[in-house]
Amino acid sequence: MNSQFKPRILISSAEIEACITRLAADIMRDYTGRNLLLISILKGAFVFTADLIRRLDLPLEVHFVLLSSYGGRMESAGKIRLVQPLQCPIRGRHVLVIEDIVDTGFTLSFLMEYLAREQPASLKLCALADKPFRRVVPVTIDYLGFTVPDKFIVGYGIDWDEKFRNLPDICAMEDEG
Ligand code: PRP
Repeated sequence: MNSQFKPRILISSAEIEACITRLAADIMRDYTGRNLLLISILKGAFVFTADLIRRLDLPLEVHFVLLSSYGGRMESAGKIRLVQPLQCPIRGRHVLVIEDIVDTGFTLSFLMEYLAREQPASLKLCALADKPFRRVVPVTIDYLGFTVPDKFIVGYGIDWDEKFRNLPDICAMEDEG
């Protein structure tokens, strides 16, 4: 992608804020009376996670995982791995994974299967955005913010070559050439 591509607002920061209010209400309704363990996927989910947890009036812990894909994400779901083992035991815990965007599904399919093997009491996924047209492996999203088109998405934590994570809106890279 060359420099004639520019970020154009797809979902504004105000729309994101309203969406997070809705998601937080749904999560609080479902987890009332439980201690929640949030697992946020670096790096893309860090902005979403920071905003979401401040809307959750529940006892909770936040942990982060860093995943690496090698050999190219499109080649095989089996090529994703945890960079470090989980730093917290999750057996018997109510685990909610926080992700910015689900694309092919390889990342989440790998992580949810990995976490399920650790026998949590419950395991769900909250994703800010979903690109269903790109899906290669199925992923169940329990709490979803937005369905986005099959465009290159940046902003609100999501990068292009490590750039644009700081944009307050979710943007699509548009060809302005
Ligand atoms: C992005 C995004 C998801 C993953 C989704 O991460 O944050 O983790 O891709 O893609 P998939 O459904 O095709 O697996 P990326 O690899 O860009 O790393 P980052 O979170 O550090 O930006």
